Amino acid sequence: MRRLLPDPAATSVAEQLADYRPWDDPPADRPRVALNFATTLDGRAAIDGRSGKIGSDTDTAMLVGLRERFDAVMIGAGTMRAERYGRIFGDPARRERRAELGIPRDPPVVIVGSLDLPWDAPLFTEGGGEALLITADADGEPPATQTPVVVLREPGGRVDVGTALRRLRAEHGIRALLCEGGPHLHSQLQAKDLADELFLTIAPKLVGAGPSILEGALPAVVELELAWLLQEGSELFARYRRRPA
Ligand SMILES: NC(=O)c1ccc[n+]([C@@H]2O[C@H](COP(=O)([O-])OP(=O)(O)OC[C@H]3O[C@@H](n4cnc5c(N)ncnc54)[C@H](OP(=O)(O)O)[C@@H]3O)[C@@H](O)[C@H]2O)c1
Repeated sequence: MRRLLPDPAATSVAEQLADYRPWDDPPADRPRVALNFATTLDGRAAIDGRSGKIGSDTDTAMLVGLRERFDAVMIGAGTMRAERYGRIFGDPARRERRAELGIPRDPPVVIVGSLDLPWDAPLFTEGGGEALLITADADGEPPATQTPVVVLREPGGRVDVGTALRRLRAEHGIRALLCEGGPHLHSQLQAKDLADELFLTIAPKLVGAGPSILEGALPAVVELELAWLLQEGSELFARYRRRPA
């Protein structure tokens, strides 16, 4: 892998992330929020309804490397239904590495959406860690699952993502949150100025149809600046930050 920007050199995912400590110095009342997405050259975020065929093994390594450095992972219910998540770290060595960094061994998986979830997905059936469901559903309970599911209710038709983030910080101590999508949850975070960083893998593929990484109106154009650009083969790995106002 090569770093093209800021200072060109040979590098690796591990080297790029070695000093990345997003849990240090979070905003006062919410977690620091980074988003991670993979896109095709024609701006599609799914192939055959899922994201897995977009990126290479290096993209997976970047995703796993990022996950290691966040208190929690967040997804929308649409992503949970499409991707059927499992335990974030099946590998005990990775859980140990997190403990050495002083962050929880198993990052909780935060899901935003209804109780219409794939309750037979490995995240719920295999145990390890916990899931936090932030829902606008006023009633209904999740079924009994191996993995504990904590329900945070935000009745009122739709979860306000700002309130949700404040609760994650105040009630669950989450200082750094990696949001892995999907596109509809992404738009709400950007619309409310709650996305601090965007890690974007640009895969050298054309697909022709499918969602983009952001679906939904924004009240204004969001301006980002490039923090780094990495290259492996024909795949690019960009890290953007929100440009300070
Ligand atoms: N390329 C990538 O990096 C990447 C990453 C993630 C996902 N994806 C792809 O994106 C697709 C899924 O797209 P998506 O837009 O449906 O995903 P999404 O944003 O994860 O899920 C949308 C769903 O989340 C719930 N939700 C979101 N905001 C809410 C709010 N404020 N209040 C209450 N519920 C809320 C709703 O669930 P309910 O319907 O339950 O109410 C909504 O239907 C899949 O094909 C997936 O593979 C790609």
